[in-house]
Amino acid sequence: MKVLVTGGAGYIGSHTCIELIKNGYEIVVVDNFVNSHPKAVERVKKITGVDFPFYDMDLLDAPALDNVCKAHKIDCIVHFAGLKAVGESVAKPLEYYENNLCSTMNLLKTMADYDIRHMVFSSSATVYSGDNPMPLTEDSNRGCINPYGWTKYMCEQIISDWVAAKENASAVLLRYFNPIGAHESGLIGDDPAGIPNNLLPYITQAAAGKLPELPVTGADYDTPDGTGIRDYLHVTDLAAGHVAAIKFAEKNKNAHAFNLGTGKGVSVFEMIHAFEKVNGVKVPYRVVDRRPGDQPVSFADPSKATKLLNWQTEKSLEEALGDMWRWQTNNPNGYTG
Ligand code: NAD
Ligand code: UFG
Repeated sequence: MKVLVTGGAGYIGSHTCIELIKNGYEIVVVDNFVNSHPKAVERVKKITGVDFPFYDMDLLDAPALDNVCKAHKIDCIVHFAGLKAVGESVAKPLEYYENNLCSTMNLLKTMADYDIRHMVFSSSATVYSGDNPMPLTEDSNRGCINPYGWTKYMCEQIISDWVAAKENASAVLLRYFNPIGAHESGLIGDDPAGIPNNLLPYITQAAAGKLPELPVTGADYDTPDGTGIRDYLHVTDLAAGHVAAIKFAEKNKNAHAFNLGTGKGVSVFEMIHAFEKVNGVKVPYRVVDRRPGDQPVSFADPSKATKLLNWQTEKSLEEALGDMWRWQTNNPNGYTG
């Protein structure tokens, strides 16, 4: 089976390419490196020992996408490509709507042209509104507070409508919670441009002395230690979820949403202390004001994925934090070092 991986040079995409190859899939990868580096692709080839076609291509370029699908008989698309910085999406909404929606629509049109029947889409826990009891199930209320979130919400709708209209088509909408960690080889990992937005890359860079201290964005939430609680899963477990999703898509028509998370919430302070213990380093931090728009608590009920995808997380928080630190120490400047 041949899988087109969009955004395969990115953080989650590169880890998923490895899982796909390990599970016997042939892959074709496209990425325009707007938020990634060609070295990630080289390193996936090095880790797996497998060469695969790669196209440096913008998904907004419909004729280029057409050429890729003409050249390869694609059976399924795993669609990671997208812009993902929440703050940037507020400042540049049109860029986000254009990139994330139009790339998805170009892919769906190409799927129709080349009879590609299955899509696995990178959605996010951000599609859930802030008024839900925890844990979040796939039926929890949805609603977003920033353009990035709306692009995920809208893409889910567009994909679902398209699949409903097309005979034999199916889609799996994977709502990721918080991916962390890196491949155990230390060769690929998260390489955010500039100052990280997310907690774990920030912790890692503060521990390495690249950043002076971690700002703990709020310690006055109504949580046991006052800091925000999230559901952090190892990126390799998340990658394995895509293999499970492809198998499900082959057997089930229509669009189906799944939460991918551990089901457990971890606070910012718990994360700092676990990181220090696992890696034997100090994480300098300072409590600052809350980040606008942050939920106090968010964690998944992943039981639908366990039941229907036969998927659950395998790796511990400690493994993820050790892998994260290995990636940082082996690659102090990410892929550009
Ligand atoms: P990433 O930025 O590392 O990967 C996305 C990749 O898509 C990048 O390599 C980028 O260069 C590429 N890309 C973007 N627009 C493109 C275009 N028009 N044409 C071709 N390539 C393009 O991000 P990631 O963390 O690996 O996330 C992958 C997907 O998962 C994204 O859609 C993201 O929104 C979603 N997601 C991520 C998280 C997270 O915490 N990392 C959480 C929920 C959902
Ligand atoms: N936090 C800090 N300091 C920082 C960054 C974050 O204390 O410098 C705190 C936040 O307040 C929050 C927790 O750490 O309590 C996690 O924050 P992240 O930014 O790592 O993760 P979020 O859950 O806020 O958001 C991420 C992605 C979203 C995605 C969401 C769900 O950034 O795009 O996970 O998948 F939608």
